[in-house]
Amino acid sequence: MQEYGELLPPERLLLGPGPANVDPRVLRSLSLPVVGYTDPFLYGVLDDIQELLRYVFQTSNRLTLPVSGTGSAGMEMAVHNLVEEGDEVVVGIAGFFGDRIVQVIKRAGGKVIPVETEWGRALEAEKIEDALKNSNAEVIAVVHGETSTGVLQPLEKIAKIAKEYDALLLVDAVTTLGGSEIKVDGLGIDACYSCSQKCLGCTPGLAPVTFSKKAYDKIANRKKELRSWYLDVRLVEKYWSGDRVYHHTPPVSMLYALREALRIIREEGIEDRWRRHETTGRALIRGLEALGMALLVEDEEIRLPQLTTVLIPNGLDDAATRKELLERYGIEIGGGLGPFKGKVWRIGLMGYNANVKNVLHLLSALEKILKKHGFPVKNGEAVKAASEYLESR
Ligand SMILES: Cc1ncc(COP(=O)(O)O)c(C=O)c1O
Repeated sequence: MQEYGELLPPERLLLGPGPANVDPRVLRSLSLPVVGYTDPFLYGVLDDIQELLRYVFQTSNRLTLPVSGTGSAGMEMAVHNLVEEGDEVVVGIAGFFGDRIVQVIKRAGGKVIPVETEWGRALEAEKIEDALKNSNAEVIAVVHGETSTGVLQPLEKIAKIAKEYDALLLVDAVTTLGGSEIKVDGLGIDACYSCSQKCLGCTPGLAPVTFSKKAYDKIANRKKELRSWYLDVRLVEKYWSGDRVYHHTPPVSMLYALREALRIIREEGIEDRWRRHETTGRALIRGLEALGMALLVEDEEIRLPQLTTVLIPNGLDDAATRKELLERYGIEIGGGLGPFKGKVWRIGLMGYNANVKNVLHLLSALEKILKKHGFPVKNGEAVKAASEYLESR
């Protein structure tokens, strides 16, 4: 008979696009006793999570909760609830995840009005406005942090256009929530979703979402019922709101973990957390540049601090180098997606991992690898550049 040994996962430093390592406090919360879904203790946990999520999303939206599932479940919940058969949606496509929104909208029966840009650049608000003008779209969908390119999409102009044309604004904040400034109410975002495993600093498995009153009204006035029963937010909310009507068994341990991760964010303060991501991301860039490496995103203003895309130096093998980083230094970084496969690495500094120690550790490992392969790097130069930047802050 096959023997199944105890599971002993290796300890890795997860500096890819997520999941990231989590605070031991979050891991400890996963081992707390499981309670039933009608336990008043759990009701308290649900209330805390909703209140803490409102803080992180910077919103007073009543309808704010974590969907059971990963970021893609959040995407499906936002899209399937807001988009009906035949609805036109203007979608900003600037990378792999913009394209995923397209796929989900099509499956919901919606018609996509694409607004595209070259991967590595930000969407132009003017083009979104043109698309709105020339269509019957009532929804605009964009990705805030495009994890495939490392671009942080500015939202102000797009939000203004959405307001002017009375369109609903749907934003993918899977990579940005908890890491980059995003103020749902301040910008007037109508539907926003994220994931637990990146800048929120939790394990994968939950997808926070929030819907504005305007979005809620559209959902309440749908002509047809949602095809998806599991992701029908009006059914799910009956459990999360005061009524506590059973919908599906909540992932109790994951909810404990998310509550702890959000509590940590509350203790740190959301603005300080945004700043921490920005500072560590910029320090990493200084170090990479000192190693002679080039960044994919040329415009500094739109670089996503928690996810840096760096071009793989000519002469280094993508897979072999990432394997070396993993096996010799215990560090995971991400490879490129789609057309960037084999061309870029994606380096994440997210949540618990966005700290100086990790920046310096990665830079020294990269320095050793580059040196071994004959690149003209000077000893300690990258760490020095990153440290000098950090000291100047
Ligand atoms: C911007 C963006 N949207 C959506 C997703 C999908 O999230 P998940 O893999 O958690 O389902 C990801 C995943 O990395 C992402 O980066």
